[in-house]
Amino acid sequence: MIKNRLIGPFTQLLTMDNIPISGSLKDSQLEIIPDGGIIVCEGKIVKVGNYDHLGDEFGDRNTVIDYIDSEMVVIPGMIDPHTHICWAGSRANDYALRLAGKSYLEIALGGGGIGDTVEKTRIASASELEASLTERAMTYLRNGVTTIEVKSGYCLNTEGELKLLEVIEKVNKKLPVDLISTCLAAHIKPADFKGSQTEYLKSIVNELLPEIKKRNLSVRIDIYIDKGAFTTEEAEIYLLLAKNMGFDLVIHGDQFTEGGVAVACKLGARSVDHLETMNDNEIKLLAASNVIPIVLPGSSLGLGGHFAPARKLLDAGCSLAIGSDWNPGSAPMGDLLLQTALLGIFEKMTMAESLAGITFRAARSLGLTDRGVLKMGLLGDMAGFPVGDYREIIYHQGSLNPTVVWKRGQRQ
Ligand code: NIG
Ligand code: FE
Repeated sequence: MIKNRLIGPFTQLLTMDNIPISGSLKDSQLEIIPDGGIIVCEGKIVKVGNYDHLGDEFGDRNTVIDYIDSEMVVIPGMIDPHTHICWAGSRANDYALRLAGKSYLEIALGGGGIGDTVEKTRIASASELEASLTERAMTYLRNGVTTIEVKSGYCLNTEGELKLLEVIEKVNKKLPVDLISTCLAAHIKPADFKGSQTEYLKSIVNELLPEIKKRNLSVRIDIYIDKGAFTTEEAEIYLLLAKNMGFDLVIHGDQFTEGGVAVACKLGARSVDHLETMNDNEIKLLAASNVIPIVLPGSSLGLGGHFAPARKLLDAGCSLAIGSDWNPGSAPMGDLLLQTALLGIFEKMTMAESLAGITFRAARSLGLTDRGVLKMGLLGDMAGFPVGDYREIIYHQGSLNPTVVWKRGQRQ
């Protein structure tokens, strides 16, 4: 017989329910249930409420109790909507060059950058990649991140990109944490491709994308629009073809060059990510669209650059999700909560805006409606912190980690 699981009591249970998808948020908008409890059955939330009341209601109905015997704040499992954690090698050399004053583009032109990781990732075996991806994903799960978007983009040929997407699929099936894959074969044109940029993109459309569809390896396509990567014109043609094949679109835009936002809005992308160089007109454009901006503070920290204008985006009425961009080059840290807290203090984001950016709004940026909020019918993914006041989570700037993480109602 299938059992209910009663989890609690929690000093505070933050549901993240009834929060609008867009615009600025006050902390008073957060729904906090004191002495909260949650009933989960077969991975999904059956009911959220007062622990004692739930005990009365469900206590005699074949219920297992997962008892919390010390103070704890629980929030929805965190969601990282932008990572590149399937790679081989290290870019410590790039980092040293950056410390010596070289820019991201200069380092790439000098033999470092994405091209360097492509060389290492191409020669790595699937089992080596599986091992490192597993380790990164499990580190994240222990830290309360229960859903992770993972991009390919470090092989940049048909065979290699399929290898990466297959590794992501395998690790997703193997681990309790959910990995959402995205094809980023349009990261840059690889050094060994003998044709033009347009020809490279065409080759992806003709050879790789049909195979991804056939094997059901991903429903999401990303492209990097920037100097040193692809132009807005090249991207538009590519993305339109991908859209016509039924893929969801995502764009790396406005990291160093403006322009990605307009393409994202024109084509109805799910999200446009980075945005460090975006201008005020682009903010207006985004506010009038359904495209969700994903800001990546880990990339600003890894490159020593400024943050994307999170405050301005929220004040203009945009949604805002936060990703770590965890990758070997621009964002080697891989700590979503720490990065969110630092973005918050520099951009003056409320705790509600920060927490929404890594739960409910992050879920929506991936098109997921089954998580990011603790309410009936959604997944029992949760992170429990050993404190009595939810504000301690952001206040500790990433040094406070969850002591218990639940994925689909099960302790990890
Ligand atoms: O999101 N800028 C483009 N792509 C990644 C970096 C990849 C790399 O440097 O390896 C990013 O920052
Ligand atoms: Fe990225």
